[in-house]
Amino acid sequence: MAVPKVFITRPIPEPVLVQIQAECDVDMWHTSAILPPIAEKIPPLDGLMTYGHEPVTAQMFDTSPNLKVVSVVGVGYDHVDEDAVRERGIALGHTPGVLSDTTADMTWALLLAAARNVVPAYNHVQVNKQWHYYDPNILWGYDVHHATIGIVGMGRIGYAVAKRALAFDMKVLYYKRERRPDWEEELGIEYAELEHLLKVSDFVTLHVPLTEETTHMIGKDEFELMKPTAILVNIARGPAVDHEALYEALSEGQIAGAALDVTEPEPINTDHPLLDLDNLLIAPHLGSATIQTRMKMVTMAMENLFAGLKGERLPYGVLQPRGVS
Ligand code: DGY
Repeated sequence: MAVPKVFITRPIPEPVLVQIQAECDVDMWHTSAILPPIAEKIPPLDGLMTYGHEPVTAQMFDTSPNLKVVSVVGVGYDHVDEDAVRERGIALGHTPGVLSDTTADMTWALLLAAARNVVPAYNHVQVNKQWHYYDPNILWGYDVHHATIGIVGMGRIGYAVAKRALAFDMKVLYYKRERRPDWEEELGIEYAELEHLLKVSDFVTLHVPLTEETTHMIGKDEFELMKPTAILVNIARGPAVDHEALYEALSEGQIAGAALDVTEPEPINTDHPLLDLDNLLIAPHLGSATIQTRMKMVTMAMENLFAGLKGERLPYGVLQPRGVS
């Protein structure tokens, strides 16, 4: 059998790359002349590993009729046209589970940083060299302990965020399409309708997949419901929050602050007005970015890739190869 042709959309760690190169003819963006996959076309390939969120579209499959597998390095696959993949019998894999705790940790890093002015403190002392005497009246933040957190989207990551909230003696509310009475009982958390959750929460964190229903699910009306002292954390997908409404809410004091790990678009334009707000903290999509987790993700994606190329069952499959259950 010919050596399968594979394209990887971002550089991956050498030890995993070497294993893929041992079995495949690999091109990788940044280290090859090939362009990133664009919506219209990709070269004829047997396997595509997407590390990042470029759209993977039906038109691309037309230029690569032998494509057997799309292996996503990440849990979310909203950038892949799932119907087109299904229709063509292409296998689709992702890396669930392994990044839930890591992303929950980052949610808390953002929440605590926003609540306790960690970035303004850094700017004050190290960037602007303004710490000339102890001033008890600067950079007052908000208590996290004993506050109410509203978790929107209660999947694996939401669950891990809730567990951490209990250590801060917080009241935990969650909103999800289907209630989880088992988790309510296990963790002592409460289900709330979205409207109520937004009204009463001191911190609102988003962990929803990107769907039609969740696109701009937090917009003008929702910000109007929130407390003026509330802080919003979005670590899900950028389009879950309407950025124009967010700008208005932050600049007019409808809410106290926000922290985003994801934006719309990504990267956010460098002249976007949100970047000038000092009550907003933006990270460049770091949810799963730890050494341990990213290595596990890339390894899982490699296993999916190999299985898909052989027409075998993907260990972490969303869609299995045609004829494989
Ligand atoms: C995920 O796993 O979905 C992260 O957002 C990285 O893509």
